[in-house]
Amino acid sequence: MSVAIVTGASAGIGAAIARALSVEGFDLALGARGLDRLEALASELREAGGRAQAFALDVSDSASIYAFYASVGEALGPVDVLVNNAGVCRPGLFAEGDDADLEYEVATNFLGPARLSRRVVRELRARNAPGDVVFISSENAVHPRTYQLGYTATKMGLEGLASVLRMELEGSGIRSTVVRPGPTESEFGFGWDPVLLEEILVSWSHWGVQRHMDILPPSSVARAVVQVVTAPRGTHYDLVSVMPERSADS
Ligand SMILES: NC(=O)c1ccc[n+]([C@@H]2O[C@H](COP(=O)([O-])OP(=O)(O)OC[C@H]3O[C@@H](n4cnc5c(N)ncnc54)[C@H](OP(=O)(O)O)[C@@H]3O)[C@@H](O)[C@H]2O)c1
Repeated sequence: MSVAIVTGASAGIGAAIARALSVEGFDLALGARGLDRLEALASELREAGGRAQAFALDVSDSASIYAFYASVGEALGPVDVLVNNAGVCRPGLFAEGDDADLEYEVATNFLGPARLSRRVVRELRARNAPGDVVFISSENAVHPRTYQLGYTATKMGLEGLASVLRMELEGSGIRSTVVRPGPTESEFGFGWDPVLLEEILVSWSHWGVQRHMDILPPSSVARAVVQVVTAPRGTHYDLVSVMPERSADS
């Protein structure tokens, strides 16, 4: 049975990915900071006949990543698939933001996935085993958004990391893939100041990056991840862009 890690698995896109991979028969290691919701999801998956365990993980903290990876190895054995899904955005104009927010976005969206991916790739190479490393990016990587400088820059960086990794791993059987979602229903914007949000939407409309308000169900992104990691050996998805279709009345 293949072992898969999903980071940020307790909500939104990560939870949908975990549900979809469970249906495919993966033995799942679910990671996030809040253990209660993770445990609830792990129970739900086990009750449905799957195999899933919850592990505390803060991807912005290297010590937490190393402890998480060691615990997963002890409990489930070597990892075959890593889905780097956890990601955050601290919205605001660059000139008005603070360094701590930027550092937090870099640590969570770029450094954390890089650290965890390095561990997984090293172990796969040592075992001479095939595997998948998936990076959940964002439409921002190709259509930058105002008020999201740190988020945009870290997703661009993440796509750069995925590309170089793909080149370095060519021929090894270890695949590096970007899944790049557009706007998706989740808890992502929860807690954003509504006044700031209105300002943001005006700006995005001005720059043509929010052309309509339709959003994807997270299951659509999960479907793309399943397609990537279950692709037959010899097939490699470099990049899957998943966008909401505009509805007739929007
Ligand atoms: N929603 C969108 O419109 C959209 C569009 C494009 C790309 N994306 C990307 O999709 C990914 C998932 O986003 P989402 O929309 O599903 O967000 P979400 O609903 O806010 O869920 C985020 C998940 O990540 C976890 N998380 C946050 N910080 C973490 C940390 N430091 N360490 C470990 N886990 C952490 C959260 O759990 P805890 O808080 O308990 O840790 C939660 O499980 C992100 O990479 C995001 O950039 C989202």
